[in-house]
Amino acid sequence: MNWAVSTYDSVFGYVSAHGAPLVDLLDPQPGERIIDLGCGTGTFTAEIAERGAEVLGVDGSAEMVAQATALHPGLSFAVGDAHEFTTSETFDAVASNAALHWMTRDPDAVIARVHAALRPGGRFVGELGGAGNCAELIVAMQTAWRVFGLGEPELPWYFPSPAEYATRLEDGGFTLRLLEHADRPSRMTEGPGGAADWVRAYAPRALADVPPELVEPLLERINELAAPALRRESGWVADYVRLRFAAVRKPDGAVPMPDVPTPPGPLL
Ligand SMILES: C[S@@+](CC[C@H](N)C(=O)[O-])C[C@H]1O[C@@H](n2cnc3c(N)ncnc32)[C@H](O)[C@@H]1O
Repeated sequence: MNWAVSTYDSVFGYVSAHGAPLVDLLDPQPGERIIDLGCGTGTFTAEIAERGAEVLGVDGSAEMVAQATALHPGLSFAVGDAHEFTTSETFDAVASNAALHWMTRDPDAVIARVHAALRPGGRFVGELGGAGNCAELIVAMQTAWRVFGLGEPELPWYFPSPAEYATRLEDGGFTLRLLEHADRPSRMTEGPGGAADWVRAYAPRALADVPPELVEPLLERINELAAPALRRESGWVADYVRLRFAAVRKPDGAVPMPDVPTPPGPLL
């Protein structure tokens, strides 16, 4: 067979979807204008820029943007909340890695802002935690909180099912081209202290509500509870479940848009 090599592994090709770098699914083209939403310290932004695209990293945290700017002085970054950002020009694509599940206030508002930032036909490509993400870690947390008489911890994430996120994208004016919901068990190489390190890193606000004298015993109990499922001889593994999607903005007028308030004036 004579494969069309240039298109086989390109925009939204299934081959690129499973486990391949997200940047391959995005497939940035030289000269394209792309937003990296929830860019953090700019690692993914830089990967996009390496493909020749003109990329703007946007993040809600001024500290993250400062760090991204210091690490990647040649790239553009701006502080902006994904629920509210507006742009003065339209973009060819919006990409987002490991950030959409932190944008919990109103997922439809985020999708509406992405829609408004894109030209018709523009791509929205992302990866986020999907339903069931970190289920063992979360159950260990909730159980430990209860054991210590602390009630329910406040969890800062939104892990949608594929059906739920597909509906949100379609109702928000996108045609879904690819959606994948897959287990991705991941070694906790940066958290040798296991589930306790994970809670310290990703749920600091929940920990901040815990009386100081209970923090260490609580974290120890979390490790005991999570170990049977997540500790291997070779180290701890996080039970990540990822939702990966690629969607295209429908032409104008293709769908009535949901009633999401539009912020005044361009921010970016
Ligand atoms: C886990 S980091 C991922 C960073 C980066 N995308 C990466 O791949 O390394 C999640 C990022 O989302 C940002 N974030 C969370 N909520 C946000 C919001 N409402 N608007 C914009 N950025 C947000 C956080 O500040 C953080 O930098």
